[in-house]
Amino acid sequence: MITIISCTNRKLAVSKSISEFYQDLLRQQQVSSQILDLQDLPTDFVGSALYENSGSNQTFNQMTELIKDSEKLVFVVPEYNGSFPGVLKAFIDGMDYPNPLKDKKCAMVGLSSGVQGGALALSHLTDILNYLGMHVLALKVRIPGVEKVFRQGKITDKLLLELLTMQIRDLVKF
Ligand SMILES: Cc1cc2nc3c(=O)[nH]c(=O)nc-3n(C[C@H](O)[C@H](O)[C@H](O)COP(=O)(O)O)c2cc1C
Repeated sequence: MITIISCTNRKLAVSKSISEFYQDLLRQQQVSSQILDLQDLPTDFVGSALYENSGSNQTFNQMTELIKDSEKLVFVVPEYNGSFPGVLKAFIDGMDYPNPLKDKKCAMVGLSSGVQGGALALSHLTDILNYLGMHVLALKVRIPGVEKVFRQGKITDKLLLELLTMQIRDLVKF
């Protein structure tokens, strides 16, 4: 099972719509997947699920269980202030030790309003995931100017669509 993580808790996030689009692309390749949406995190999780409260927030635990049950992950990462969203780091910091990401494989998709498409965000996240023992697929897809190329739930740019398709093929083989 592949789990796609929409890496923000912002309401009406484009990352969630791109995660759904990615799930459609996987479905077309007969690959089953589920979406883990950080919007579903309990709003108080920073105070109720981390450190000394580790394990005591059931909703948080269920979300990390989805990761434990997955063979591979896809991180859909919006660029926030030149990096990935802090809520994703807090989510990772709340995971058990040893970390459930260890020895798993993942792919990454970055998106931004600006020109980077989350280049630094994906780089920062790669450092952390590698530190935790996760294997990151080399082909990372960046979607700059996301408002222009993602319309009505679909990627309209031909090259980006090709890159996403290539990434899915690589991820399946990974
Ligand atoms: C808190 C915040 C910080 C942002 N920082 C950047 C940024 O540094 N560079 C950029 O190009 N866009 C930035 N944006 C724009 C987002 O990358 C863009 O709106 C993207 O679609 C947001 O994804 P989301 O809808 O999944 O939250 C920022 C947006 C938010 C909400």
